[in-house]
This record gives sequence, C-alpha cells and structure tokens, in this order.
Amino acid sequence: MNITRREFLKVTGGLVTLSALGGGGLSAYQGVALARNTLMPTGSNPDPARLAGPVREFKLTTAVTPIDLGTGEFKAWTYNGRPVGPELRVTEGDTLRVVVTNNLLEPTTIHWHGVPVPNTMDGVPDMPQPAIQPGEIFSYEFKAWPSGTYLYHPHVGHQLDRGLVGPLIIEPKREPGNYDREYVLMLDDWATVDGGGPDSPERVTDHMGHGMMGGGMMGGMMNGMMGGMMGQQPAAAAGSGPLLEPVYDAFSVNGQVAATATPFTVKQGEKVRLRLINGGATTVFGLRLAGHTLTVTHADGRPTEPLAVDVLRIGMGERYDVEFTADNPGRWQLYDIISSMPLTTVLYQGVNSTQYSGDNLAQNFRWNDYSLLAGLPEEGLSPLSASGPADETFDLVLSGGMMSAYWTINDRIYPDTETIVAALGQRVRFNYFNQSPMPHPMHLHGHFFTVGSRGLRKDTVLVDAHMGQASIEFVADNPGMWMHHCHNIYHAEAGMMQVVQVG
Ligand code: C2O
Ligand code: CU
Repeated sequence: MNITRREFLKVTGGLVTLSALGGGGLSAYQGVALARNTLMPTGSNPDPARLAGPVREFKLTTAVTPIDLGTGEFKAWTYNGRPVGPELRVTEGDTLRVVVTNNLLEPTTIHWHGVPVPNTMDGVPDMPQPAIQPGEIFSYEFKAWPSGTYLYHPHVGHQLDRGLVGPLIIEPKREPGNYDREYVLMLDDWATVDGGGPDSPERVTDHMGHGMMGGGMMGGMMNGMMGGMMGQQPAAAAGSGPLLEPVYDAFSVNGQVAATATPFTVKQGEKVRLRLINGGATTVFGLRLAGHTLTVTHADGRPTEPLAVDVLRIGMGERYDVEFTADNPGRWQLYDIISSMPLTTVLYQGVNSTQYSGDNLAQNFRWNDYSLLAGLPEEGLSPLSASGPADETFDLVLSGGMMSAYWTINDRIYPDTETIVAALGQRVRFNYFNQSPMPHPMHLHGHFFTVGSRGLRKDTVLVDAHMGQASIEFVADNPGMWMHHCHNIYHAEAGMMQVVQVG
C-alpha cells in the first residue's frame, strides 16, 4: 500500500478481472435500485449507465493461523493468512464478487459493513442467507455502490475480535479529490493471551476500560466518569452469562504494532489522504497525528463539508477519510490520545532521525464532534435535510453493564428486543438515550442515516456514555430484515441488537 495514487491506478488497471455479468445477484440489486428510484427527488435518479462496470473477483479464505504481533505467537483467525484482511478495492458500478472458502471449524459469514447491499448478500446468518459451513465455498456478489471507505467482517459470534476484518474501498467513477498520496489505515485491538479474543482469560471487570475513556474524555464527560460509575461486573466472567470484553495487549494498524510498524512515508508538499477504519471490537480511538491538522472529508464513506480537527475520535465500525498537507518534515507518531499509546509512524522522505518529532497538541483541541460535521448532497441517495417529520419515531434506551453482564435496548436482550417494522419508503427516526457507563457505536445495516440537523450522513453513530443522546433518521428504502446493533461486538453478543424489518 506504500505507493502513490497514480502508481496505484497503474497497478490495479492490470488486475481487473473481466468476465460476463452474472445473473442472480445483479437482478436482485436492480430490484433494490428501482425501489430507491421511487424515493429520489426529481432529477437525481442514478443514471444506470453510470453504474455499469466489470465484475471484479476476489478470493478470501478463512483459517486459524499462528500470528506474532510482537507479544508472542498466538492463534489468530485470518483472511488469507494475514492479521488484516486484504484490501478489496473496486470502482463504483463494478460488480464485486468475493469467493469465500471457509477453513474454520465453525460457520462464518461476511458482512459488508456500510454498503447497502441486497438483503441476501448482507452476511447475517439466516437473514436470509445461511452461514458458510466449515469446508464450504460461497460467493458474495453485489453492485459496488456508492463510493466510500467500508470494512468487511463476519457476523458470527466474536469472530471479528479474532482478526477477521478487512478494508473495502469503493472508488468514485470520477475522483474529485486532488490528493497526491493515499493510505488505508485499519485499526484493530488484540487480546493475544491464551488463544486471544473471546478465549482470552483476562476480562475487563469494571468500566474504567478503554472504550469508556473514549466516550468520557472526548465527550467532555470526564467528571461524571470519575464520579464513581465503576459498575462491578458480577459472576458473568465465570462462564454463566455472556462474555465480558477481554483486556487488550496489542493494537495494530494494518496488522502491525507501533514498535515494529513500517512507517507511512510522505513527501514534503504532498496532500495526503488517509482512510481511517476502526476494525476493533471494543476500542474507541482518539487519533492524533503529531504535528499535523487533519481535514475530515468523509464520514463512513459519505462526503462532508471539510472540517479541520486536531484529534479524530473514531468508534468501532466508523470510518473517516481525512486529508493533511505534508508541510512539517519529521518523524511523527500517529497515537491514541485516550491511552497515550503510539499506533504507527508517519515519516517524511529524507528524514533520517530515529527520534520522533515532539507534538504540540493544543489544550483546547478541535475534534470531530458530530454537531460540527455537515453532509454534502449526493446523487442517488435520499435527500439530506428532513422533508418533514418522521413517519415513525422510536425512542431507544441503551443500558446495561452496571450490575449485569447483559446489554439492553429498551431493557430487552436480543433476540427478545423489539423488531422495528417500517414500510418501504417510510422515514424512520431513532432517538437514542444512553443510560450506561460506556459509549455505544450503533450501526444499522442496509441503510445510511442522517445524524443531527446538518445532514451528516453515516451508518454508525457513537452514542456517548453517561446519558449521551443522539438522533438519526433514515428512509427505509432497502427491503429485508436488517440488523441494528452496538458495534462493540461484546455488547452486541450480550444483547444490544435488534432487527429492523423493511417492506
Ligand atoms: Cu459491522 Cu452488524 O456490523
Ligand atoms: Cu455497546
């Protein structure tokens, strides 16, 4: 991935797999596209020709693989044998075909997080497609649309936390950005002790954990947090209840930990784009590139008005595209200000110093509070500003974790949570109230939603800890059964999940 954009285009040009357009997957998509068109404001229907493209085929094989991130060897679960899944990169309008061979000892699926795929391709077991059994091969196929930064991962148990996550980049047909260099940075949290992930014996037993710090500190909730909200977790760790999240001992960017990571090189004067993806299972990061201001251009793949930030807060499942100008030569750390943990290195060409350049982060740093972000209108997506009141409003209280190992939506645990039913074309509003001591990145499948009143469009919204609130609105324009859940995988598996039925 250490190449300039121009070089990149040259390279991938040669790798395109051209083949005849398949039948089934495509016609399913067309059904969806038609449904969407009926909801478009006049004049913004996507031009079908714009969506035409070749079939691009990739192969993913899941397996248990011995990996050493620097903490000693452990058994990770991998795509193609690596600690991060390969980058799948296609152009908007291409048909993406991914042939998955499951060499695990349990069923798996792939969910294309953020892409509004047809329901049959969404990768939630039996909703409606059954999971891929051990030894089985399954081909996912769907139209890659719209452009943006996405991720893929299984939707089975805690598999994501064992290493199964990778980036999916859908490039626009015409690239409006004028950057010189691009890097994709997949962040991940690892428990590597005794089997790792959900097998790790070490558990977070109170909520002074990392995820909570994220919500607390960045949300200006430090006081409330320090005021003694340390709910002790009872018995669950002993095996009766759902799994508590593990204590992480390694944090990686593209499968490498900071101490041994290959630096991301830049050249003075370049405009650099970073596609930042949080593929962690429970960690909210506060990313700081020492010595630099980042300009947010996209949130969850959707374009935003440019916003300059000093620190970028990113929850699990969220993505941000940012740009910076390489105008401060040195060897710089990309670090997490929440834990003061180094993540990786940005190195200017020609700088030979092995010393890191010192940071000068202002006390009142700017960050990507959702209220500061505004969306940009996009062809083919429902309009940004609410065109009237929502047809249906649901108040959703997020709770749990204080005296219980379960996490709830309106006091209920999946699968006993309410199924939200929306007619095709209805405008639906969710009002979240977080009555728990941890932040919850809530993710809706199959749809984009707007957050707040400035048309910020996303698919995952971080609801702050300790009475944090957020509201989202979406047009139920993709028929099927869709998951809506917290992207802390341990919370999701411990109940914070529900179904949204559209059409
Ligand atoms: Cu990335 Cu239902 O999840
Ligand atoms: Cu949660």
